[in-house]
Amino acid sequence: MPPSEPVWLVGAGPGDPELLTRKAERLIAEAEIIFHDALVGPAILDLARPQTELVGVGKRSGRHSKDQDDINVLLAEAALAGKKVVRLKGGDPSIFGRSTEEIEHLATFGIPVRICPGITAASAAAASGIASLTLRGLARRLTFVTAHARKGEAIGLDWTALAAPDTTLAVYMGRAAAPTIGQRLIAAGRAADTSVMIAVNVSLPNERLIRGRLDALAFLTATISDDDPTLLLIGEAVSSNKAATAEQRERVSC
Ligand SMILES: C[S@@+](CC[C@H](N)C(=O)[O-])C[C@H]1O[C@@H](n2cnc3c(N)ncnc32)[C@H](O)[C@@H]1O
Repeated sequence: MPPSEPVWLVGAGPGDPELLTRKAERLIAEAEIIFHDALVGPAILDLARPQTELVGVGKRSGRHSKDQDDINVLLAEAALAGKKVVRLKGGDPSIFGRSTEEIEHLATFGIPVRICPGITAASAAAASGIASLTLRGLARRLTFVTAHARKGEAIGLDWTALAAPDTTLAVYMGRAAAPTIGQRLIAAGRAADTSVMIAVNVSLPNERLIRGRLDALAFLTATISDDDPTLLLIGEAVSSNKAATAEQRERVSC
């Protein structure tokens, strides 16, 4: 007999609790157990009831605290025990969130899954930079891409496709690969002076943004990113000249 309560995969957004949906806030408040990513901070976890069990299953680059199989097992165990389970993920669960593995594992036990979307890091970064991710006539495509590669493997990306001049690239997990990304895009034909914006800890009190050119991507990224979550936006749409006011440009330009 499958449990009647679904497991909720909930998008926590980029970090600012005010960027949670009202539904996410309600689900967090109603949960009996929350399995959360490392990028979900205390300001959001504080919305849970004091008696709610909080289980960190965070994965940060190079420091996997629990592997995906363990997370799948924990989710299923909690659901089968009849608990109200929330799996709280940074940003939107559908973007580089490994949701499908969790859904498939839970399905093998007949456990239903529901998803509450969240604001993804690219949307939040564009908002912080007073920019748009698309631009009429100039940026007709938006590509979400991860530069994360399995240990020892090369980044398997189609550089020619990504170098198309009318594309905005939102690169997740791209901090370490920034030098390769800049070089490979330029080698594939993307203009060296293409605008880039690097956004660190978007929406959090220690948010940092920097803008510049594609040929300086590695330098700019190293300048501001430390070990914190970093998103790379590449394309004319994020140029500081396109949308920001003079005052806002001063705040975010290098
Ligand atoms: C495993 S992916 C998860 C993405 C998430 N599902 C989303 O929709 O934003 C983690 C990566 O998202 C990006 N990211 C998430 N939160 C961020 C933030 N607040 N500021 C900058 N980048 C962020 C970083 O590139 C980070 O390495």
